[in-house]
Amino acid sequence: MTRSSAPGKVYLFGEHAVVYGEPAVPCAIERRARVGVQRRDDEKLRVHAEDLSLDGFTVEYGGGADQQPDVDVSESLVSAAMGYVDGAIEQVRDVTGEDAGFDVTIESDIPLGAGLGSSAAVVVAAIDAATRELGVTLEPTEIAERAFQTEYEVQDGQASRADTFCSATGGAVRVEGDDCRSTEAPDLPLVIGFDGGAGDTGELVSGVRSLREEYTFASDTVEAIGDVVRNGEDALAAGDFEELGRLMNFNHGLLSALGVSSRSLDSMVWAARDAGAYGAKLTGAGGGGCIVALDPSDETETALSYTPGCEETFRAELAEEGVRRIE
Ligand code: MEV
Repeated sequence: MTRSSAPGKVYLFGEHAVVYGEPAVPCAIERRARVGVQRRDDEKLRVHAEDLSLDGFTVEYGGGADQQPDVDVSESLVSAAMGYVDGAIEQVRDVTGEDAGFDVTIESDIPLGAGLGSSAAVVVAAIDAATRELGVTLEPTEIAERAFQTEYEVQDGQASRADTFCSATGGAVRVEGDDCRSTEAPDLPLVIGFDGGAGDTGELVSGVRSLREEYTFASDTVEAIGDVVRNGEDALAAGDFEELGRLMNFNHGLLSALGVSSRSLDSMVWAARDAGAYGAKLTGAGGGGCIVALDPSDETETALSYTPGCEETFRAELAEEGVRRIE
């Protein structure tokens, strides 16, 4: 069996607006998806997943586009996760030219669909492990590109390169359109609050698209997020936590205006601010899931642990390393 892991991420700034060519700054965090891959004698794909914040599940399918996966659990998130694995294996078949089948095992300590880049981490780790299983080693940038193609297809053409690039390369990243590059970041005191739920990225991205089409001011809001990000980059370079926090608060307000926050996300954001965090915002697609706060003290973690609607809170270390093999 060949095994790889890849980190999740938080968005310091810029989710949603990045879909429309505005810059974004995601940072990889030390919460990883681990994917083990074993080549099969046939062309089937068998996937076993544990710890995706859902019950463990196993599905097996393959051979022919008309054959549906035999999934015995109804959660749409699980179906979505299967779409990502399937897409990742298609990329592996494309790059290696082999119609190989695989047994795939997924373990993840990144909650699914919660704004921490779980799907990108699974896809990135799956592409790395499955290509290496077939004797092909890809550079992280090529894995990022192929993982992006997978997300793009699964999310009906509504995906940016941010999550997949960040997961493949690690560290802090600046993304603007097709241009993705690593960027310097100080040691950020990041605290995560998780409401135990998940948002549907496709639906949330579509919602923002509809608002942009209907209202000029929604389109202006997306552009304003781009301005916040550009200011955020200066604050990041200067290591100015106060300014970073202020801009994170601003970014959250603009995302909220675009309808992608939720009551529990807002409660957690306010709990963090009241506890003295420099700033706090939702991370990822929104609708439920996680917030990220900037606080070097323990106050935010303590406050979040008492906040109704917050199921889990933890400190997130920056992951310097992106996708990597597990020996
Ligand atoms: C989802 O993690 C981030 C979004 O900006 C979508 C994307 O960039 O693909 C909402």
